[in-house]
Amino acid sequence: EFMREVTGVLELETKLKSQLNIKDVVVISGDSDTSPWVKFELGRACVKRIKSCLADRNVIAVMGGTTMAAVAEAFTPDFHDKEIVFVPARGGLGEDVKNQANTIVSKMAEKSGGKHRVLYVPEQVSQEIYESVIEEPSIKEVLTMIQSANIVIHGIGEAKAMAERRRTEAEIMEKITRGKAVGEAFGYYFNEEGKIVHKVRTIGLQLRDLNAIPHIFAVAGGKSKAKAIKAYMKIAPPNTVLITDEAVAKRLLKG
Ligand code: F6P
Repeated sequence: EFMREVTGVLELETKLKSQLNIKDVVVISGDSDTSPWVKFELGRACVKRIKSCLADRNVIAVMGGTTMAAVAEAFTPDFHDKEIVFVPARGGLGEDVKNQANTIVSKMAEKSGGKHRVLYVPEQVSQEIYESVIEEPSIKEVLTMIQSANIVIHGIGEAKAMAERRRTEAEIMEKITRGKAVGEAFGYYFNEEGKIVHKVRTIGLQLRDLNAIPHIFAVAGGKSKAKAIKAYMKIAPPNTVLITDEAVAKRLLKG
């Protein structure tokens, strides 16, 4: 804490907390874009926060991405006195295997000694197939668990970077650009005002479901994400705890 005070991040936290309409803010020194270890510090801070809000039985719903992968790396074996099941928050969003929530929840379970479930849903299917897939008992079971999550952890990305990483088809790409999307979270692309301009259709947690979840951790850093994070803060549920870095915090305070 002493180091955090002298480096000024505590002051950044206090100022940001009073500016944003969310539950809490944690700021880590540095910039994740230029110093890769900062992402792991974000991960460690997130795991520490999760530890402090665990119930006896927990369902933790997790999104994909490299930041979530860093959170997974930060889990430690001292979670075994609580019951924890990690579940992917949503179905396929077009990510590579290493960035998929299915991969990340299995890592979290392995590191913490908890359990996990996977959610394999095809990405490009007709409405008809989609509707029958979600009636599949094994999928239904996981969907019910997701709805009962007491903790959600997610990343926030820059819209264009995310659309490209997911190899989004031209037509949708055009929609995202035309809508001036700046950020993406949970498969929702939004503009600077926080208005949703495109939504990836998949099962699992929807943005509106978040209001019922007691603990939500949004983990994202790096100045390239500042605009995205700023915009997401306009639609973030009040239960959100933002875990970010100094580079982002300074930009959010400026504008
Ligand atoms: O695709 C899953 C996801 O969580 C997105 O919702 C988010 O924008 C992105 O990953 C964040 O990825 P990264 O942490 O690699 O920037």
